[in-house]
Amino acid sequence: MVSRVIPVENFDLVVFGGTGDLARRKILPGLFRRYAGGHIPDAARIIGAARAEMDDAAFRAFAGAAIAEFVDEDKRQGDMVERFLAHLGYVQIDATGERGWDRLKAAVRPEVVQAFYFSVAPTLFGELAERLHRFEIARPDARIVVEKPFGRDRETARALNATLASHFTEDQIYRIDHYLGKETVQNLMAVRFANILFEPLWNARHVDHVQITVAETVGVGGRGAYYDKSGAMRDMVQNHMMQLLCLIAMEAPYKFDPAAVRDEKLKVIHALQPVHPDEIVRGQYRAGRTEPAYAQDVDNPASTTESYIALKASIANWRWKGTPFYLRTGKKLRARASEIAVVFKEVPHSIFGEAEGWRENILSIRLQPNEGMTLSVMIKEPGPGGMRLTEVPLDMSFAEALGAEGADIPDAYERLIMDVIRGNQTLFMRGDEVEAAWAWVDPIIAGWEARGDRPKPYDPGSSGPEDALMLLHRDGRRWREIRE
Ligand code: BG6
Repeated sequence: MVSRVIPVENFDLVVFGGTGDLARRKILPGLFRRYAGGHIPDAARIIGAARAEMDDAAFRAFAGAAIAEFVDEDKRQGDMVERFLAHLGYVQIDATGERGWDRLKAAVRPEVVQAFYFSVAPTLFGELAERLHRFEIARPDARIVVEKPFGRDRETARALNATLASHFTEDQIYRIDHYLGKETVQNLMAVRFANILFEPLWNARHVDHVQITVAETVGVGGRGAYYDKSGAMRDMVQNHMMQLLCLIAMEAPYKFDPAAVRDEKLKVIHALQPVHPDEIVRGQYRAGRTEPAYAQDVDNPASTTESYIALKASIANWRWKGTPFYLRTGKKLRARASEIAVVFKEVPHSIFGEAEGWRENILSIRLQPNEGMTLSVMIKEPGPGGMRLTEVPLDMSFAEALGAEGADIPDAYERLIMDVIRGNQTLFMRGDEVEAAWAWVDPIIAGWEARGDRPKPYDPGSSGPEDALMLLHRDGRRWREIRE
């Protein structure tokens, strides 16, 4: 299989917060991997901009260490890292003051594609946008890349949209949801819209329900201060989980193009029904034998923030009315496993009578780890003695099916950064989409606050609080096991 990568033009990418954690773990290693893959033009430049006092050499050393830590050795052969580092420069900058902006202006070339990555605290987004404009650094088609969290409710998201809009047009703004950069998430669209097979079944007549699970084994670790103010609802549901739901539920866009795809996702968000308080379970991990409880992790003994959430979402449109979408995500669960399971209905009439062993068909799309898809189908159990049924998986691991290319799944950030340079917004969230997502989430959070809701404790290494099982049991359904 020949890899066809759309080439990018020459560019200058400025990474504000270039010495921060995201730059170290994701942005710089991701750019390096693309460089090693031959996808970054020779005259491209990556400029770190941050408060730290550093020169080009020190920033290159920082990036070199990040690459050594986060990129596999087989990709770092020969002088590849050295050659990549030669593309890097650094400008010390004061995001809320005047210092460094003239130097940045001198460093950025007006004749190439310009991208400015705001990998900084959200409170600085407006400051950066305003200065890029005031110091006449950004050319009229420059792109800005904005990280999450994008606001903490609709009000703040709207204000942020307005601030950015006073300096940049919507087609210059790239709001990152890194789940959209995951290979398997994009595969959802390929599976749905490049195959005729699923579409006739993809509706409430044939789909009993959908389960979307994003389970993590990690706790909130060093991010306690941020996380305790957010919780799983703001941190995962409002963005990543809702994006997954949209990709499963949306109508076919008329074209794989930013406006068409985002219009269809927005319609799904608008069709989401308010969630009844009984249809949500919040959890918080307690202490394990050796591990601290959530409250200790975030250093807030009275915390009522959820580290787990499960909820039942309903979409009121012709395609999905009557098919619930169950969402759950949490920290410190038994396995790191993200999966979308489309659970189909029973056959209309069983010609085998009460045949033993019958199970519903399930299409399971594994996002991570072991990216792939499994369709469970019923067959006859081999052997004599009547008709007994058994379930077998039609199993496809992307790594196995695609060989080396499938095994080499790019990190979400790599893909998204290159899309910014290409000027393709399909996998980024539009301003109205983010606001609409908050509009669905806000009343849910407001309800908890008004009721003084407390999350249910759950054991680290478990599947979450017991009550989450009930959410499905009372509908006559059960969660799929969380396992790698
Ligand atoms: C981030 C959240 O957006 O996504 C984290 O802030 C979470 O809390 C992470 O751990 C999960 O991403 P991934 O790619 O590891 O599934």
